[in-house]
Amino acid sequence: MIETAHIPLVSLESMNTTHLEEVAILNTLLESLNSNADFKTVSEGFETLLSHMQQHFESEEKLMQEAQYPSFRMHKGDHDKVLNEARYAEMEWRNRKDVDALREYLEDELLVWLDQHIKAMDTPMADFVTQFEKYKGF
Ligand SMILES: [Fe+2]
Repeated sequence: MIETAHIPLVSLESMNTTHLEEVAILNTLLESLNSNADFKTVSEGFETLLSHMQQHFESEEKLMQEAQYPSFRMHKGDHDKVLNEARYAEMEWRNRKDVDALREYLEDELLVWLDQHIKAMDTPMADFVTQFEKYKGF
């Protein structure tokens, strides 16, 4: 579990909203693991997380391309990498149904990644994009 207050904020409000939504989905999934929810409930929670991640990354990538952000490729590379890892973790979950392994992945890898990615990549991206008047209210 992570307190939403611990999620680093960037200068673009729409990105913060998306990040907080993602953390809420992640926390719901962790709660279902902690309360020994059945396989179907956990799997559906993981699906919800994966599709939110995909939409979240796509919306950032669209914005970076529109604004001609110079570090687009590096930033997208980091999204692609974590999405592949998450899909792999989902496959492992479906094959092995190992609650501890899934919890470990979510807490020790995905949440750590999210915090670092927001600080190292989303923060400079949001600062770049908000230079342009049209994105200020985003
Ligand atoms: Fe990002």
